[in-house]
Amino acid sequence: MIGGRWPIASCVAVVMACSREPAPSVRLPEPLPPTPVTLLAGDSLYVMHCQSCHGRHALGTDLGPPLVHSVYAPRHHADAAFVLAVRNGVRAHHWTFGDMQPVPLVTSAQVESLTAYVRWLQMQAGIH
Ligand code: HEC
Repeated sequence: MIGGRWPIASCVAVVMACSREPAPSVRLPEPLPPTPVTLLAGDSLYVMHCQSCHGRHALGTDLGPPLVHSVYAPRHHADAAFVLAVRNGVRAHHWTFGDMQPVPLVTSAQVESLTAYVRWLQMQAGIH
């Protein structure tokens, strides 16, 4: 049934397009030290709202880029970029994953908290 195969073929094409992206050049230590107590709230918020696309420990998935990446170091994307991304969404420009939709459930204070967690992960990877 050739007609039925088309959707599968296009999914494979999307996955291949994503995997053409350069692998993240950064690594987290194994094992990762436990999340500092002051960042546990940010850790949970990240897992709840961001991990499905940005991946466990922000290392990326087929749906979204790693945030533990030099592109997202503070000197390239200040904390305000996280607030704007969550509030307004992101038009695809760095990668081929597509646009990020706004995440309206997450408040600015919560973004601040989860950004601190992502910054800590970046620090563990030696990005800053
Ligand atoms: C449904 C998937 C999805 C979810 C959920 C998601 N993102 Fe994203 N995000 C993306 C994609 C895709 C991009 C890359 C867009 C591009 O090509 O630059 C992105 C980009 C970003 C960027 C870069 C913004 C910029 O200025 O370039 C930040 C910061 C970000 N996301 C933070 C978050 C945070 C924080 C959360 C959780 C509250 C989150 N994202 C949830 C898909 C997602």
